[in-house]
Amino acid sequence: MGSENGRGDRFVRVQEVGARDGLQNEPRTVPAEIKVDLIERLAAAGLPAVESGAFVSPKWVPQMANSEEVFRRINRRDGVTYPALTPNMKGFERAAAVGVTEVGVFAAASETFSQRNTNCTIEESLERFRPVCAAAAEEGVRVQGYVSTVLGCPYEGAVDPGIVADLCGRLYAMGCYRVALGDTIGVGTPSKAAALIDRVAEAVPLTDIGIHFHDTYGQALANTLACLDRGIRTVDASVSGLGGCPYAPGAAGNLATEDLIYMLDGLGMETGVDLDAVAETGAFITGWLGRAPVSRVAQALAGRKAA
Ligand code: HMG
Ligand code: MG
Repeated sequence: MGSENGRGDRFVRVQEVGARDGLQNEPRTVPAEIKVDLIERLAAAGLPAVESGAFVSPKWVPQMANSEEVFRRINRRDGVTYPALTPNMKGFERAAAVGVTEVGVFAAASETFSQRNTNCTIEESLERFRPVCAAAAEEGVRVQGYVSTVLGCPYEGAVDPGIVADLCGRLYAMGCYRVALGDTIGVGTPSKAAALIDRVAEAVPLTDIGIHFHDTYGQALANTLACLDRGIRTVDASVSGLGGCPYAPGAAGNLATEDLIYMLDGLGMETGVDLDAVAETGAFITGWLGRAPVSRVAQALAGRKAA
C-alpha cells in the first residue's frame, strides 16, 4: 500500500493538532504570539501538518477567537500544511480571508454530540458542509472531514460502526479528500478500533482515512498501532498530549506526539519528525501553561536531560 503522498508504506503522516485541539479547552485563551511561536516550532520539528486554529463561533469557543491573528502572523514553511476547522460557510469565509489552504469540517456519529458541539442534527451539519466543500473546490482549498464520537459518545454510549462508515462515505462523496475518525472521549480499545477501520474502508479508500484518538483511558497508542497494522498512515497527535473538547465532558488530551513519534521511530517507520525538537516544544508550551506534559516519552526525555 502506498501512502497518500506517495512516500511509501513506511511513511506515516503525523498531523499535529496541539495548537487547536490542544488549546481549545484551556481555561484561558493563549495569546496569538504564543500560538504562533508554538506552531512555528512544531513546523520546524518536521511535522508536515500543523493545525493552527478554528473559525468557530467565538461565543462557543473563545480560545479560538484569535485564529485570524494567528494565521496572519505565522511564517509559513514550504511543504507544511496549516489546517483550520470550519463548521460552516461563515467559518470558511473567515479562513479563506486569511489564506488557509486546508480546512476541516466536523460531524459526529451521535445526535446528542452533534447538538452539543455544533447546535444541529447530523443531517443539518452535512447540509452546512456541502457549500463549504463546493466553495473550497472552487478556491483550491482542501477539505478534511472529521467524524467525532466514532468509538463512543459521552451522552449516548456505544456507537454503531455502520453509522460511522456511512457518514465517512458521505463526507468523502461530498469532496472531503480524507476522513478522520475521532475517538473524541478516548474510550476505544485496539480490537474495536481495528474493526472500525475495516468497516470504514468499505466506504472510503484506506489511504484516505486518518485517525484522531484521545487518550482518556490510555489506549490511544495501542489503538493507533492496531490501525497502523490495518494500513492506516495518517495519524493526528498533539504535542505533550494536550487537548480536549469543551463539549465532551471528561475527555482527556489527544495521543501525545512525542509518544507516537517514539513508537514509530522504534518500529522503523518514517515520519520526518525530530522527536527532541517536539519534546522541547512541548516543554515550551506546557511551561507557558504552567503544568507538566502528560506524555510519558516527554517525561522520560526531560528526566534524562535533567540527569
Ligand atoms: P449557532 O449559534 O447555532 O450558529 O452555532 P448560528 O448559525 O445560529 O449563528 C449564531 C451566531 O454565531 C451569529 O452571530 C453568527 O454570525 C455566529 P450573531 O448574529 O448572533 O452575532 N457564527 C459564527 N461566528 C464566527 N464564526 C463562525 C460562526 N458561525 C456562526 N463560524 C456553530 C453553530 C457551529 C457556529 C457553533 O456551534 C460552534 O462554533 N461550534 C463549534 C464547537 C467547537 O469548536 N468544538 C470543538 C471543535 S470539534 C472537536 O474538537 C472534535 C475533533 O477534535 C475531533 C474529535 O476529537 O472527535 C475535531
Ligand atoms: Mg479532538
